[in-house]
Amino acid sequence: MVNNYILQNRQRFLDELTNWLRIPSISADSRFKNDVRNAASYLKEQLIAAGADHAELIETPGHPVVYAEKIVNPALPTVLVYGHYDVQPPDPLNLWISPPFEPVIRDEKIYARGACDDKGQVYMHVKALEIMNRLNVLPCNVKFMVEGEEEVGSEHLGQFVKTNRDKLKADVILISDTALISLEHPSITVGLRGLSYVEVEVTGPNRDLHSGVYGGAVANPINVLARMIAALHDEQGRVTIPGFYDRVIELTAGEREALNRAPFNLENYKNELGIDEVHGESGYTTLERTGIRPTLDVNGIWGGYTGEGAKTVLPSKAYAKISMRLVPEQDHRTITEQFTRYFISLAPKSVKVKVTPLHGGEPVVTPTHSPAFHAASAAFEEVWGKQPIPTRDGGSIPIVALFKKELGLDSVLMGFGLDSDAIHSPNEHFGLTNFFRGIETIVAFYRHYARIKQSSN
Ligand code: BES
Ligand code: MN
Ligand code: MN
Repeated sequence: MVNNYILQNRQRFLDELTNWLRIPSISADSRFKNDVRNAASYLKEQLIAAGADHAELIETPGHPVVYAEKIVNPALPTVLVYGHYDVQPPDPLNLWISPPFEPVIRDEKIYARGACDDKGQVYMHVKALEIMNRLNVLPCNVKFMVEGEEEVGSEHLGQFVKTNRDKLKADVILISDTALISLEHPSITVGLRGLSYVEVEVTGPNRDLHSGVYGGAVANPINVLARMIAALHDEQGRVTIPGFYDRVIELTAGEREALNRAPFNLENYKNELGIDEVHGESGYTTLERTGIRPTLDVNGIWGGYTGEGAKTVLPSKAYAKISMRLVPEQDHRTITEQFTRYFISLAPKSVKVKVTPLHGGEPVVTPTHSPAFHAASAAFEEVWGKQPIPTRDGGSIPIVALFKKELGLDSVLMGFGLDSDAIHSPNEHFGLTNFFRGIETIVAFYRHYARIKQSSN
């Protein structure tokens, strides 16, 4: 029945998603403020059309939150769907085969910024609601909270959650904003890394200088910054910040073995990325390096002359944006402090250093013995014909830890993307198989969740 409904409405589902993807909801860029709001309004309308009793835009000091609910019967369990309708900036634009906000389908994939992260995945939930509603098989109450600031650190969502505790009352949070191992190997994410993100500024002379007249006699802040960054890792690929690993939970041999049993082909991984060798902390596999180990990466570095041709200049300033991915029980505030102290200590007297924290978030590990996890697992088995493998993803959704802290709610990370979907990169896309199977899986989740909850009462 569900399958039939999807087949009959396939084109309409895609058209509606396409129209949503056309709206450039880039939260980081203030020039798109109206587009962000328009994307929120579009979602609100679609939620009403899908059968929500009520949907609204709730203002925050930043971009609005879209809230909707369908309360079937207060005695039934309530699922709170979280996602985000904002997207990453699309640049570099010249590397897109088709423009980021003119969605097209090629090779059974829809190409657009936000196709996978996260509009495409949020839209699966909207269509799952429509289906359950039209077919009269909605076995739970449903609430939606879809934010517009995830890609810029969910700055205002913490306060939003605190002031809307009653409204957000639920039994579990359901999130589709992560990836599967592959179409052949469905998986459920059970861990996400935390984040500490800082910007650093190194200042040398009080103005840009002639690199011939002064070069060699005055510290060049770019040269200095490069040395400082290089000093943040040792030969073993470990981060050198004192105290960085102090609170890291080491997994047992058994846990590591289980994690490494997940299907992973190193040759394919390297081929897909065009690299001859992988890299990272020695003593750990690639799955461990992204899943259970903390890391430090420069995300951007600039300064001096970067225009066409050569300009001889000894710059006054150099900058970098640095992220640290964190694992349980690292605390992002402590890590940011440790970084700041150490980074400043690395600077020679010839420069001045400023560190600005940009954002942070806690890592999470979600339960694997809860009714909701069992329901998600059963839903995957039903639709994909295979038991999903629990995985730890390297990305971050800082709000998941906050939901636990502020609402006491666990999340189920039932994502349907693929690592190859190019999220945050040019040519982001989302497979139509992922999209339609995802919708089916979500519908199955509700049925199993209601059943398991009822039998546990
Ligand atoms: N959906 C991603 C996070 C993600 C991607 C988790 C793939 C697991 C697998 C999310 O939108 C994201 O990009 N988060 C940011 C953090 C945020 C604070 C800017 C990230 O991970 O860089
Ligand atoms: Mn996302
Ligand atoms: Mn993202």
